[in-house]
Amino acid sequence: MADKKIIAVVGATGAQGGGLVRAILNDPTSGFAVRALTRKVESDKGKELKKFGAEVVAADLDDLESLKKAFAGAYGAFLLTNFWEHFSPEKELAQAKNMAQAAKHAGIQHAIWSTLEDTRRWVPLSDNRMPTLMGKYKVPHFDAKGEADHLFAELGVPTTLLLTSFYWENLIFFGAGPKKGPDGKLALTYPMGAKKLPGIAVDDIGKCALAIFKRGKEFIGKTVAISGEQLTGAQMAAALTKALGQEVRYNDVPPEVYRNFGFPGADDLGNMFQFKRDFQEAFCGPRDPSIARGLNPSLQNFEGWLAQNKSRIPIS
Ligand SMILES: NC(=O)c1ccc[n+]([C@@H]2O[C@H](COP(=O)([O-])OP(=O)(O)OC[C@H]3O[C@@H](n4cnc5c(N)ncnc54)[C@H](OP(=O)(O)O)[C@@H]3O)[C@@H](O)[C@H]2O)c1
Repeated sequence: MADKKIIAVVGATGAQGGGLVRAILNDPTSGFAVRALTRKVESDKGKELKKFGAEVVAADLDDLESLKKAFAGAYGAFLLTNFWEHFSPEKELAQAKNMAQAAKHAGIQHAIWSTLEDTRRWVPLSDNRMPTLMGKYKVPHFDAKGEADHLFAELGVPTTLLLTSFYWENLIFFGAGPKKGPDGKLALTYPMGAKKLPGIAVDDIGKCALAIFKRGKEFIGKTVAISGEQLTGAQMAAALTKALGQEVRYNDVPPEVYRNFGFPGADDLGNMFQFKRDFQEAFCGPRDPSIARGLNPSLQNFEGWLAQNKSRIPIS
């Protein structure tokens, strides 16, 4: 342990960070040890991480001093913000700034910032094909992450920008799975037309991040975009039909219909899907699965992920 390089993992109790924790701790030859950051050291998840072999420390992304302490002595840091906890792009920006400053202060040698595209580079606010949200964003949970990219470079933090993809776990935890329509039949409802949605298993995000840390210098200053497979809604529905043993149809709806579904963040997600649909080449191109497979040879495709996870998908 003492000779291992410490990776400070933000979001260690969550999906992406948890995937990285598992990747590191399941690979005793990685040369890395995990320092898991959480606001709730004594929570069940915090205790579980400790039992699993992680050092668990208290830190809050809103508290710069706590981050400086948590990053002290670490070689690397995996950094993310959780938009869905507060729905505030400004808060994500402030938290990213705190992490960049703390990483600089601690002399972090390799940071991975889990970011997404600032969609306003492709859809300026004057472009009315989708509504402007919260005054100055098109896809708020993407835009602020992308806007924050420059903070790391400006402070001279050696950083890899990691562009992730739609987690297939969204079918389990995020209400994005098949639902029964009025006809009693299951349907997957995304406003993607016939375009492809890059997806990935969260554990593969962690495995790719570990490979990026291992290959260190090769990826500092670079952007790496990852997906496990890129499928149309119809292809996803066909894979679900096969895995679940009951028909799942793809229900294509216009983005404006999706934006008005009424759940919190529906407008943001409607714009997100529309961005992925209308800027397919810009979104899918960099996420060619061969990139993730080069980092992580055990990368799962959707069929493989379904074989392991189909029983966890709530059907309602
Ligand atoms: N769902 C998708 O398909 C998808 C795809 C790409 C990107 N994303 C992005 O992923 C992000 C969320 O990551 P996730 O899905 O891995 O998260 P998650 O599973 O929802 O868990 C959130 C994690 O963030 C930590 N956290 C949140 N606020 C914190 C704070 N103030 N201080 C310290 N830690 C804090 C939590 O730690 P504690 O509660 O233990 O403190 C927890 O570990 C979102 O911003 C989303 O936009 C999602």
